[in-house]
Amino acid sequence: MPETFDETRLPAAKAARYAALGEEIAAVLEGEPDRTARMATVAAMLAQAFDDFFWCGFYVVDPTRPSELVVGPYQGTLGCLRIAFGRGVCGTAAAERRTVVVPDVEAFPGHIACDARARSEIVVPVFDGSGALIAVLDIDATELAAFDETDAAALESILAATFAAGGSHKTDKQSA
Ligand code: SME
Repeated sequence: MPETFDETRLPAAKAARYAALGEEIAAVLEGEPDRTARMATVAAMLAQAFDDFFWCGFYVVDPTRPSELVVGPYQGTLGCLRIAFGRGVCGTAAAERRTVVVPDVEAFPGHIACDARARSEIVVPVFDGSGALIAVLDIDATELAAFDETDAAALESILAATFAAGGSHKTDKQSA
């Protein structure tokens, strides 16, 4: 694996920055099967690459309570520990198995305010190689409307490459 990750060498333009970051993440995680290590590395490298990511991390599907998310590896201020499917932005993304972009958290009914400084948010579902939901990636920013379709597409691509195609437990191709 590379010995260092220098985010100052990434391109400035957002789409190109995500693309280069995705390659760096794949290089760092080459040969590492542990899912927690993979999530921790993705959270750390995303937070390092994007200064405006105030909170960045995973809520994992609890294997003992399959309709509940429990906090996983993250970077940022203290996050809520558990979120039921259907609740808040994370629970909505998990229940509906789709990316949710929230330009203004105060306008999202049921938004869970773990930290009042968060103003906008994106939550992306994470699937394993069999298509099973294993977690959601939640990123919060202190600015309004920090996330758009570019973030959604790039994050979906990085997560598919990291946890479905090159993920730890399954190597089957994911169709959705
Ligand atoms: N705002 C999220 C909860 C998680 S924290 O922001 C870290 C939500 O509404 O699901």
